[in-house]
Amino acid sequence: MPPKMAVFLLVFHLLGLPIFASDPDPVQDYCVPNAKFGAGRTPRVSVLPCKNSSDVTTDDFVFSGMKNFAANFSETGLAALSVNPTLFPGLNTLGMSFVRADLRVGGINPPHFHPRATEIAYLVRGRVYSGFVDSSNRVFARVIEGGEVMLYPRGLVHFQMNVGNKPATIFGSFNSQNAGTQKIPATIFGSGIKSELLEKAFGLSPRQIGQMRRKFDPKTTR
Ligand SMILES: *[C@@H]1O[C@H](CO)[C@@H](O)[C@H](O)[C@H]1NC(C)=O
Ligand SMILES: *[C@@H]1O[C@H](CO)[C@@H](O)[C@H](O)[C@H]1NC(C)=O
Repeated sequence: MPPKMAVFLLVFHLLGLPIFASDPDPVQDYCVPNAKFGAGRTPRVSVLPCKNSSDVTTDDFVFSGMKNFAANFSETGLAALSVNPTLFPGLNTLGMSFVRADLRVGGINPPHFHPRATEIAYLVRGRVYSGFVDSSNRVFARVIEGGEVMLYPRGLVHFQMNVGNKPATIFGSFNSQNAGTQKIPATIFGSGIKSELLEKAFGLSPRQIGQMRRKFDPKTTR
């Protein structure tokens, strides 16, 4: 490698690290938000003042909400509990969060992406067709089994379908305290984008777009 190239790569590497970091680095051990200032009401908790550390207890670092998780399944057979600082304030400023997702037999987690995080999904139990699509529209997908872990790189569309004959449970962790989730069907058909644009984009008739909008837009009555 020519020396100039090596210097360029080194500089690029050094400069690149902070640019590619997801959330800002914490400047203290932890910052459990002070409930007095509205912690838990907004995901923008990183701007909330921290509790005095002498008021912080072990319980601030334990989340029990997954233990007796009452799965509330969606129409597609998915029940998800997203655990970010809104539910688990102790995560605040630590650059991580997680999700528990349960899938009924045949259930799906529709194509979606997390704008601010890579996800590591550990399939606790079940058989799941799992995958993502990269920015050249190449799909990386296969059936994974209990105990296997799959990666969904940050910002890429991914999906899951329970292809086993028992319920499936996935534990996903994110390298952001607020990964964000955009579900493709609702983002496209449920956000209020003008029908005319959607008709042109998908080559569908006004009636067909109307059907999709009624399905995915909570504001249109069924
Ligand atoms: C934190 O709490 C301790 C013990 O109650 C107290 O001495 C200290 O002044 C408090 N610090 C702040 C910044 O309020
Ligand atoms: C279950 O989820 C639906 C939305 O998918 C929501 O409208 C409903 O209130 C939830 N039910 C319970 C008991 O949480």
